[in-house]
Amino acid sequence: MDLGLKGKVALVSGGASGIGEFIVRTLIEEGCLVGIIGRSIEKGNKLTHEIDPTGTQTLFISAELTQDAECKKAVDATIAKFGKLDLLVNNAGLNDGASLEKSPSAFMDSIQKNLFHYFALTHYSLEQIKKNQGSILNIASKTAVTGQGGTSGYAASNAAQLGLTREWAVDLLPYEVRVNAIVPAEVATPQYDSWIQTLKNPEETLKKITDKIPFGKRMTTSQEIADMAVFLLSKRASHITGQWIFVDGGYTHLDRSI
Ligand SMILES: NC(=O)c1ccc[n+]([C@@H]2O[C@H](COP(=O)([O-])OP(=O)(O)OC[C@H]3O[C@@H](n4cnc5c(N)ncnc54)[C@H](O)[C@@H]3O)[C@@H](O)[C@H]2O)c1
Repeated sequence: MDLGLKGKVALVSGGASGIGEFIVRTLIEEGCLVGIIGRSIEKGNKLTHEIDPTGTQTLFISAELTQDAECKKAVDATIAKFGKLDLLVNNAGLNDGASLEKSPSAFMDSIQKNLFHYFALTHYSLEQIKKNQGSILNIASKTAVTGQGGTSGYAASNAAQLGLTREWAVDLLPYEVRVNAIVPAEVATPQYDSWIQTLKNPEETLKKITDKIPFGKRMTTSQEIADMAVFLLSKRASHITGQWIFVDGGYTHLDRSI
């Protein structure tokens, strides 16, 4: 299927690791030009050298997305390099365990890490995305609808991401800009691996989790998230907006007795 993404300019937050990296790789395969936001210049350069040795299809932008000015810088740099911006993927985030027991300021820090830049990057991209009838995709988390325990800031941020997906879909109807969210549950990524390693019995816990994933008793792959991402961003998804798509092997919704 030709997704018609060739020549589109995309910006992906957290695009040098995990789910974001697979979204970047897949957008590149589809012929997009991609701005990649991350923290580590070393990691970013390694990825861009591998997937785009001539440096014509990618731009790595080192930015700390909790800072308003850094969000603007990332959008401006992408437009300066590629001349426009069509597609935005809000993906960067961290399940940081800002629990009910922690301070209100730890809660606000978590919101800053997990929600603030979804708004800021969208705000700064808006003019271009409206002009180009582009599309916006938010990567959320099943914690938005199931809870997880011990992670109020992350759960609240992800629930807000889903709320904003609906809100922005309405805002942007007049411009024919579609806004959707993907809701992953359990995806093997560097972040997930570091979290599982903090537990007492990582392998046993991982098996317990995967045994509860209905489809295939396995984790979702980052490629499976990326495949849905490029579809939703493309005009092949031209009548899908304001949707939360659960790419999770049935983990969130199927019968518990399975
Ligand atoms: N892995 C999972 O099982 C899972 C499940 C549900 C939701 N998610 C969500 O998917 C998204 C990607 O997760 P992942 O597992 O691929 O994570 P990851 O840690 O492997 O990659 C995220 C990248 O974003 C960057 N980043 C995070 N905050 C940043 C900031 N403030 N400024 C600049 N860069 C920042 C990190 O440095 C990292 O490179 C996150 O929003 C996460 O909440 C993941």
